[in-house]
Amino acid sequence: MALDVETMMTPDPKAAADRSPVLAMHRVTKRFGAVEALTEVDLELRPHEVVALVGDNGAGKSTLAKIISGVLQPDTGVVEIGGEQVAIPNPAAGHALGISTVFQDLALCENLSVAANIFLGREIRASKHSPMDIDGMELIATQILRDLTITVPSVRVPVRELSGGQRQAVAIARTLTTRPRILVLDEPTAALSVVQTAEVLTLIERLRSMGLAVLIISHNLADLRAVADRIEVLRHGRNNGSFDAGTAAPEEIIGAIAGARLPSRPRWA
Ligand SMILES: Nc1ncnc2c1ncn2[C@@H]1O[C@H](COP(=O)(O)OP(=O)(O)OP(=O)(O)O)[C@@H](O)[C@H]1O
Ligand SMILES: [Mg+2]
Repeated sequence: MALDVETMMTPDPKAAADRSPVLAMHRVTKRFGAVEALTEVDLELRPHEVVALVGDNGAGKSTLAKIISGVLQPDTGVVEIGGEQVAIPNPAAGHALGISTVFQDLALCENLSVAANIFLGREIRASKHSPMDIDGMELIATQILRDLTITVPSVRVPVRELSGGQRQAVAIARTLTTRPRILVLDEPTAALSVVQTAEVLTLIERLRSMGLAVLIISHNLADLRAVADRIEVLRHGRNNGSFDAGTAAPEEIIGAIAGARLPSRPRWA
Protein backbone atom coordinates (compact mmCIF):
# COMPACT_ATOMS: atom_id res chain seq x y z
CA MET A 1 0.00 0.00 0.00
CA ALA A 2 1.43 3.38 -0.93
CA LEU A 3 0.52 6.34 1.22
CA ASP A 4 0.88 9.91 0.15
CA VAL A 5 1.45 11.65 3.44
CA GLU A 6 1.58 15.06 1.79
CA THR A 7 -1.94 14.64 0.39
CA MET A 8 -3.16 13.03 3.60
CA MET A 9 -2.14 15.97 5.74
CA THR A 10 -3.09 18.80 3.39
CA PRO A 11 -6.46 20.43 4.05
CA ASP A 12 -8.89 19.42 1.35
CA PRO A 13 -9.93 22.71 -0.38
CA LYS A 14 -13.08 21.06 -1.73
CA ALA A 15 -14.09 20.05 1.79
CA ALA A 16 -13.41 23.58 3.00
CA ALA A 17 -15.71 25.06 0.38
CA ASP A 18 -18.45 22.47 0.78
CA ARG A 19 -20.15 22.72 4.14
CA SER A 20 -22.99 20.33 3.34
CA PRO A 21 -23.17 17.43 5.81
CA VAL A 22 -20.73 14.61 5.20
CA LEU A 23 -22.82 12.50 7.59
CA ALA A 24 -26.55 12.83 8.20
CA MET A 25 -28.59 10.51 10.38
CA HIS A 26 -32.36 10.78 10.39
CA ARG A 27 -34.75 9.22 12.90
CA VAL A 28 -32.35 6.44 13.85
CA THR A 29 -33.80 3.91 16.30
CA LYS A 30 -31.98 0.99 17.94
CA ARG A 31 -33.40 -1.54 20.39
CA PHE A 32 -31.62 -4.17 22.48
CA GLY A 33 -34.50 -6.45 23.50
CA ALA A 34 -36.74 -4.35 25.69
CA VAL A 35 -34.24 -1.45 25.89
CA GLU A 36 -34.71 1.30 23.33
CA ALA A 37 -31.13 2.62 23.28
CA LEU A 38 -31.87 5.19 20.54
CA THR A 39 -35.23 6.66 19.55
CA GLU A 40 -35.53 8.63 16.31
CA VAL A 41 -32.14 10.31 16.71
CA ASP A 42 -30.97 12.93 14.21
CA LEU A 43 -27.33 13.94 13.79
CA GLU A 44 -25.36 15.87 11.17
CA LEU A 45 -21.62 16.32 10.78
CA ARG A 46 -19.95 18.71 8.35
CA PRO A 47 -16.37 18.89 7.08
CA HIS A 48 -14.14 21.09 9.26
CA GLU A 49 -16.47 20.59 12.20
CA VAL A 50 -16.00 19.10 15.66
CA VAL A 51 -19.29 17.97 17.16
CA ALA A 52 -19.49 16.81 20.75
CA LEU A 53 -21.99 14.15 21.72
CA VAL A 54 -22.88 14.31 25.39
CA GLY A 55 -25.36 12.64 27.69
CA ASP A 56 -25.56 10.74 30.93
CA ASN A 57 -24.45 7.12 31.32
CA GLY A 58 -26.66 4.93 29.17
CA ALA A 59 -27.93 7.85 27.07
CA GLY A 60 -27.02 6.01 23.85
CA LYS A 61 -23.78 7.76 22.85
CA SER A 62 -21.67 4.65 22.24
CA THR A 63 -24.58 2.95 20.49
CA LEU A 64 -24.76 5.88 18.07
CA ALA A 65 -20.97 5.76 17.55
CA LYS A 66 -21.19 2.03 16.82
CA ILE A 67 -23.94 2.58 14.25
CA ILE A 68 -21.82 5.23 12.48
CA SER A 69 -18.82 2.89 12.42
CA GLY A 70 -20.76 -0.17 11.25
CA VAL A 71 -20.36 -2.21 14.45
CA LEU A 72 -24.15 -2.06 14.97
CA GLN A 73 -27.01 -1.60 12.52
CA PRO A 74 -30.02 0.63 13.23
CA ASP A 75 -33.48 -0.97 13.42
CA THR A 76 -35.00 1.96 11.57
CA GLY A 77 -33.85 5.33 10.27
CA VAL A 78 -31.63 6.61 7.51
CA VAL A 79 -27.87 7.18 7.39
CA GLU A 80 -26.45 9.34 4.59
CA ILE A 81 -22.80 9.84 3.69
CA GLY A 82 -22.11 12.74 1.34
CA GLY A 83 -25.84 13.03 0.67
CA GLU A 84 -26.27 9.37 -0.38
CA GLN A 85 -28.24 6.91 1.70
CA VAL A 86 -25.93 4.07 2.79
CA ALA A 87 -25.94 0.81 4.72
CA ILE A 88 -22.90 0.25 6.93
CA PRO A 89 -23.12 -3.51 7.58
CA ASN A 90 -19.68 -3.82 9.20
CA PRO A 91 -16.60 -1.72 10.15
CA ALA A 92 -14.87 -2.54 6.84
CA ALA A 93 -17.82 -0.98 5.00
CA GLY A 94 -17.48 2.03 7.31
CA HIS A 95 -13.79 2.39 6.43
CA ALA A 96 -14.61 2.17 2.74
CA LEU A 97 -17.07 5.05 3.22
CA GLY A 98 -14.40 7.15 4.94
CA ILE A 99 -15.44 6.55 8.55
CA SER A 100 -12.84 5.81 11.24
CA THR A 101 -13.48 5.26 14.91
CA VAL A 102 -11.25 5.21 17.95
CA PHE A 103 -13.02 3.27 20.67
CA GLN A 104 -12.23 3.79 24.31
CA ASP A 105 -10.04 0.69 24.61
CA LEU A 106 -7.91 2.00 21.68
CA ALA A 107 -7.19 -1.59 20.53
CA LEU A 108 -3.44 -1.03 20.31
CA CYS A 109 -0.97 -3.92 20.56
CA GLU A 110 1.18 -3.22 23.62
CA ASN A 111 4.18 -5.26 22.50
CA LEU A 112 4.36 -3.83 18.98
CA SER A 113 6.12 -0.61 18.01
CA VAL A 114 4.36 2.68 17.32
CA ALA A 115 5.00 2.24 13.58
CA ALA A 116 3.71 -1.35 13.60
CA ASN A 117 0.55 -0.22 15.40
CA ILE A 118 -0.06 2.61 12.94
CA PHE A 119 0.12 0.13 10.05
CA LEU A 120 -1.45 -2.88 11.79
CA GLY A 121 -3.45 -4.84 9.22
CA ARG A 122 -2.36 -2.44 6.47
CA GLU A 123 1.35 -3.23 6.38
CA ILE A 124 3.38 -1.91 3.47
CA ARG A 125 4.87 -4.61 1.21
CA ALA A 126 6.43 -4.32 -2.23
CA SER A 127 4.08 -7.11 -3.33
CA LYS A 128 1.57 -9.38 -1.66
CA HIS A 129 4.16 -12.01 -0.69
CA SER A 130 7.09 -9.70 0.07
CA PRO A 131 8.24 -9.12 3.63
CA MET A 132 6.96 -5.99 5.35
CA ASP A 133 8.79 -2.78 4.45
CA ILE A 134 9.66 -1.86 8.02
CA ASP A 135 11.90 1.07 7.07
CA GLY A 136 9.17 2.48 4.82
CA MET A 137 6.52 2.13 7.51
CA GLU A 138 8.77 3.76 10.12
CA LEU A 139 9.49 6.64 7.78
CA ILE A 140 5.83 7.28 6.99
CA ALA A 141 4.79 6.82 10.64
CA THR A 142 7.40 9.42 11.64
CA GLN A 143 6.06 11.82 9.02
CA ILE A 144 2.44 11.31 10.08
CA LEU A 145 3.26 11.94 13.73
CA ARG A 146 5.39 14.95 12.89
CA ASP A 147 2.67 16.47 10.71
CA LEU A 148 0.18 15.97 13.53
CA THR A 149 2.72 17.43 15.98
CA ILE A 150 2.53 14.26 18.04
CA THR A 151 5.65 13.59 20.10
CA VAL A 152 6.77 10.05 20.87
CA PRO A 153 10.31 9.01 21.85
CA SER A 154 10.63 7.02 18.61
CA VAL A 155 8.31 5.13 16.27
CA ARG A 156 10.32 2.01 17.20
CA VAL A 157 9.36 1.94 20.89
CA PRO A 158 6.67 -0.51 21.94
CA VAL A 159 3.32 1.09 22.71
CA ARG A 160 3.48 -0.18 26.32
CA GLU A 161 6.20 2.43 26.96
CA LEU A 162 3.96 5.36 25.96
CA SER A 163 1.88 7.66 28.14
CA GLY A 164 -1.92 7.63 27.94
CA GLY A 165 -1.95 10.77 25.80
CA GLN A 166 0.67 9.37 23.42
CA ARG A 167 -1.34 6.16 23.07
CA GLN A 168 -4.48 8.10 22.24
CA ALA A 169 -2.51 10.10 19.68
CA VAL A 170 -1.10 6.92 18.10
CA ALA A 171 -4.60 5.40 17.96
CA ILE A 172 -5.83 8.54 16.16
CA ALA A 173 -2.80 8.63 13.82
CA ARG A 174 -3.50 5.00 12.93
CA THR A 175 -7.01 5.82 11.75
CA LEU A 176 -5.63 8.44 9.35
CA THR A 177 -3.88 5.85 7.17
CA THR A 178 -7.31 5.03 5.70
CA ARG A 179 -7.82 8.75 4.88
CA PRO A 180 -11.16 9.12 6.64
CA ARG A 181 -13.62 11.98 6.13
CA ILE A 182 -15.34 11.26 9.42
CA LEU A 183 -13.58 10.47 12.67
CA VAL A 184 -15.47 9.24 15.73
CA LEU A 185 -13.67 9.43 19.08
CA ASP A 186 -15.31 7.69 22.06
CA GLU A 187 -14.02 9.27 25.27
CA PRO A 188 -10.59 10.30 23.94
CA THR A 189 -9.59 12.22 27.05
CA ALA A 190 -10.93 9.90 29.75
CA ALA A 191 -8.14 8.98 32.18
CA LEU A 192 -5.70 11.53 30.76
CA SER A 193 -3.78 14.14 32.73
CA VAL A 194 -4.45 17.84 32.17
CA VAL A 195 -1.39 18.19 29.94
CA GLN A 196 -2.16 15.05 27.94
CA THR A 197 -5.77 16.18 27.52
CA ALA A 198 -4.60 19.53 26.17
CA GLU A 199 -2.37 17.70 23.67
CA VAL A 200 -5.22 15.51 22.45
CA LEU A 201 -7.52 18.55 22.12
CA THR A 202 -4.83 20.32 20.05
CA LEU A 203 -4.61 17.22 17.88
CA ILE A 204 -8.38 17.30 17.35
CA GLU A 205 -8.12 20.93 16.26
CA ARG A 206 -5.44 19.91 13.77
CA LEU A 207 -7.75 17.21 12.38
CA ARG A 208 -10.50 19.79 11.95
CA SER A 209 -8.15 22.09 10.06
CA MET A 210 -7.37 19.14 7.76
CA GLY A 211 -11.06 19.09 6.83
CA LEU A 212 -12.26 16.11 8.83
CA ALA A 213 -15.64 15.96 10.49
CA VAL A 214 -14.96 14.86 14.07
CA LEU A 215 -17.54 13.44 16.48
CA ILE A 216 -16.21 13.39 20.02
CA ILE A 217 -17.96 11.66 22.91
CA SER A 218 -16.97 12.84 26.36
CA HIS A 219 -18.24 13.53 29.84
CA ASN A 220 -15.90 16.49 30.28
CA LEU A 221 -17.86 19.62 29.37
CA ALA A 222 -14.90 21.94 29.83
CA ASP A 223 -12.86 19.98 27.27
CA LEU A 224 -15.76 19.89 24.87
CA ARG A 225 -16.50 23.59 25.11
CA ALA A 226 -12.81 24.21 24.37
CA VAL A 227 -12.65 22.11 21.22
CA ALA A 228 -16.17 21.55 19.83
CA ASP A 229 -18.11 23.78 17.46
CA ARG A 230 -21.45 22.27 18.40
CA ILE A 231 -22.69 20.18 21.32
CA GLU A 232 -25.46 17.63 20.77
CA VAL A 233 -27.20 16.21 23.82
CA LEU A 234 -28.73 12.75 24.05
CA ARG A 235 -31.04 11.88 26.92
CA HIS A 236 -32.60 8.44 27.31
CA GLY A 237 -31.75 7.74 23.66
CA ARG A 238 -33.37 10.90 22.25
CA ASN A 239 -32.03 14.23 20.99
CA ASN A 240 -32.39 16.68 23.85
CA GLY A 241 -30.71 19.84 22.62
CA SER A 242 -28.20 21.25 20.17
CA PHE A 243 -25.91 24.02 21.36
CA ASP A 244 -23.32 26.36 19.92
CA ALA A 245 -20.26 25.42 21.95
CA GLY A 246 -18.89 28.95 21.89
CA THR A 247 -21.96 30.67 23.32
CA ALA A 248 -24.02 28.14 25.30
CA ALA A 249 -23.84 28.43 29.08
CA PRO A 250 -22.67 25.28 30.88
CA GLU A 251 -25.89 25.29 32.95
CA GLU A 252 -27.94 25.13 29.76
CA ILE A 253 -26.03 22.08 28.55
CA ILE A 254 -26.10 20.38 31.94
CA GLY A 255 -29.83 21.10 32.11
CA ALA A 256 -30.37 19.32 28.80
CA ILE A 257 -28.24 16.35 29.90
CA ALA A 258 -30.14 16.09 33.18
CA GLY A 259 -33.57 16.50 31.66
CA ALA A 260 -34.49 20.15 31.42
CA ARG A 261 -36.44 21.13 28.35
CA LEU A 262 -35.60 24.64 27.34
CA PRO A 263 -38.41 26.48 25.51
CA SER A 264 -35.88 28.67 23.66
CA ARG A 265 -34.56 25.57 21.86
CA PRO A 266 -37.36 24.32 19.65
CA ARG A 267 -35.42 21.46 18.05
CA TRP A 268 -36.81 18.73 20.31
CA ALA A 269 -40.12 20.39 21.21
N1 LIG B 1 -25.01 -4.80 23.34
C1 LIG B 1 -26.00 -4.39 24.15
N2 LIG B 1 -26.94 -5.23 24.59
C2 LIG B 1 -27.94 -4.80 25.38
N3 LIG B 1 -28.09 -3.52 25.78
C3 LIG B 1 -27.18 -2.63 25.38
C4 LIG B 1 -26.08 -3.01 24.53
N4 LIG B 1 -25.34 -1.91 24.29
C5 LIG B 1 -25.93 -0.89 24.93
N5 LIG B 1 -27.03 -1.33 25.59
C6 LIG B 1 -27.96 -0.49 26.37
O1 LIG B 1 -28.31 0.63 25.58
C7 LIG B 1 -28.34 1.82 26.36
C8 LIG B 1 -27.36 2.83 25.80
O2 LIG B 1 -26.04 2.37 26.02
P1 LIG B 1 -24.75 3.14 25.50
O3 LIG B 1 -23.59 2.26 25.76
O4 LIG B 1 -24.97 3.58 24.11
O5 LIG B 1 -24.74 4.41 26.47
P2 LIG B 1 -23.63 5.56 26.61
O6 LIG B 1 -24.36 6.86 26.43
O7 LIG B 1 -22.48 5.29 25.75
O8 LIG B 1 -23.24 5.44 28.16
P3 LIG B 1 -21.80 5.67 28.89
O9 LIG B 1 -21.68 7.14 29.10
O10 LIG B 1 -21.99 4.95 30.18
O11 LIG B 1 -20.72 5.08 28.05
C9 LIG B 1 -28.03 1.39 27.79
O12 LIG B 1 -29.27 1.19 28.45
C10 LIG B 1 -27.29 0.08 27.62
O13 LIG B 1 -27.49 -0.76 28.73
MG1 LIG C 1 -20.43 4.87 26.11
